[in-house]
Amino acid sequence: MAIAPTNASETADDPIKLDRPIVLVGLMGAGKSCVGRGLAESFGLPFMDSDSEVETAAGCEVRDIFEVYGEPAFRDCERRVIQRLLLSGPSIIATGGGAFIDPETRWAVKKNAISLWLRADPEVLFQRTKRSKTRPLLNNEDPLTTLKNLAEQRYPIYAEADITIDSGNEGLEMTLQKAILALKRNAQQGTKS
Ligand code: S3P
Repeated sequence: MAIAPTNASETADDPIKLDRPIVLVGLMGAGKSCVGRGLAESFGLPFMDSDSEVETAAGCEVRDIFEVYGEPAFRDCERRVIQRLLLSGPSIIATGGGAFIDPETRWAVKKNAISLWLRADPEVLFQRTKRSKTRPLLNNEDPLTTLKNLAEQRYPIYAEADITIDSGNEGLEMTLQKAILALKRNAQQGTKS
């Protein structure tokens, strides 16, 4: 696991060579889509969001898939969609918070991509998600406790990602810059080539 670099000689403008997708993982509200779009723009790569791709494939929103067909059906669709996205070559893929927890998806991501975990405290995630009505797992009386429980269950698994970046209170622009530098360091080290 690599942590965000602090070496002042590295800048976000250095070029990067990629031969595979970068897959963003982490809990709801970690900033996967926002940071993912920024990475795609910065590296000149296509951006894909697994939740959006699932919605396109299913023809309805994630919350409706959960409500009408149930979570297992969503996970099944998510697994198949991500398998397809992983064939896209160099690209940035933001995944739904549960995707990397699925053993089959995790194995496929490890084999075919560079994984990057955006780690954040449940309190930070709660602040970022509290107004959202689109996340079925947080649509309950006590979403902060849900986030704490999910963090306890999932963080040891997200920690298997190739790179970990803290996505704290400093704002997603700072998280993006840390992610760019960490990915460049990872590419330079050639750990995946
Ligand atoms: C989920 C996270 C959501 C979405 C679904 C389930 C999860 O995506 O895939 O509601 O299990 O954590 P985001 O992480 O993009 O909110």
